[in-house]
Amino acid sequence: MSAKPTLVQPGRAAAIGKATAGPKGRHKGGIGGVATQASSADWKQRYAAALAAYLREGKELQLQRAYELGRAALGEGRGVVELVMEHHQILLRDWTLRPPAEPRQALQRGGAFLREAISAFEMTHRGFGDASAALRRMHEFVEKEAKRIAYALHDGAAQLLAVLHLKLEDLARSLPPAGRSRVRETRQLLDEIEGQLRALAHEIRPAALDDLGLTAALQTLVESFTQRTGIPVHCDFRQSQRWPPEIETTLYRIVQEALNNVRKHARARSVTVAVTGQPDAVFCAIQDDGVGCDPARLFQPGGDGLGLIGIRERVQALGGKLEVRSAHGQGTGIFVRINLEGRSWPLKS
Ligand SMILES: Nc1ncnc2c1ncn2[C@@H]1O[C@H](COP(=O)(O)OP(=O)(O)OP(=O)(O)O)[C@@H](O)[C@H]1O
Ligand SMILES: [Mg+2]
Repeated sequence: MSAKPTLVQPGRAAAIGKATAGPKGRHKGGIGGVATQASSADWKQRYAAALAAYLREGKELQLQRAYELGRAALGEGRGVVELVMEHHQILLRDWTLRPPAEPRQALQRGGAFLREAISAFEMTHRGFGDASAALRRMHEFVEKEAKRIAYALHDGAAQLLAVLHLKLEDLARSLPPAGRSRVRETRQLLDEIEGQLRALAHEIRPAALDDLGLTAALQTLVESFTQRTGIPVHCDFRQSQRWPPEIETTLYRIVQEALNNVRKHARARSVTVAVTGQPDAVFCAIQDDGVGCDPARLFQPGGDGLGLIGIRERVQALGGKLEVRSAHGQGTGIFVRINLEGRSWPLKS
């Protein structure tokens, strides 16, 4: 089974893992609020009563109750493990006090009740999978479009400029020397425009990513960042094999956005970018030593910023894990892990 993505926003849970397992390993896998003590006791009582009634009477209609209680558990933020353990405890307690006359039938009914109760979780899990798949498709589409626009800019516009160069050259020949030097200046401007278009096309979709691979594309990205900002970047790129294209594109976009953020917000003296892999997973970390920020601002819903939310969606669509840490005066770090296991990609060990 693929790992469920865990998204952690600093300030809400300090590290990946704490968000899913609370005290005594309680699994809070649900959506919505978290159960309070009172509502927890109430839910347990209702579950125990409904289960007891079904064990006694075994009516089809009572299974609907199991489903409703499962949904209520989900809505209150209970996890599937918690629900199963609660079910188990109730049966254990009841059967110790009153051993069932027909254990086989009781066991079957208990199983059917539990299956109904957890079906709400199953549906949510599937819905989550569908949403991730849709996101993945959307990102693939966006990347394809980006590639198309980049090539149109790069090749289409470059061709037009080349024709313009020839025409100006022609024109220059028919002009007196003073006019020729004006044309030369104009052609220099054209060269600049061509350079800028080329840079823009590479930014939209770096050809190196397709042709030379992630490491080469990242190196170009980092070099142009340092050239523009003067901020040195320490790189640790270790990629012994090509990764699936959607992973390489995602890692590139993450580093691109993280460096953009460093340029815009961090006032950093230096940055470290690490992209490494193991046979079963890839890792990416971008850390700066800048001013940092209030962690609550990082994924502000309804805020102006889209960059980090975009990163979160991309990682989520690939079933990966993202953690962003930031604090005033202590820089910002983005950490990503994406599993390679279970992907249709020829893995070499
Ligand atoms: N490296 C960083 N250093 C300091 N603050 C940061 C850093 N990265 C992000 N932030 C803070 O987090 C906020 C959200 O970042 P995000 O990338 O989502 O949006 P943005 O950069 O403001 O806008 P956009 O990415 O849409 O152009 C930023 O506005 C900034 O306050
Ligand atoms: Mg940004």
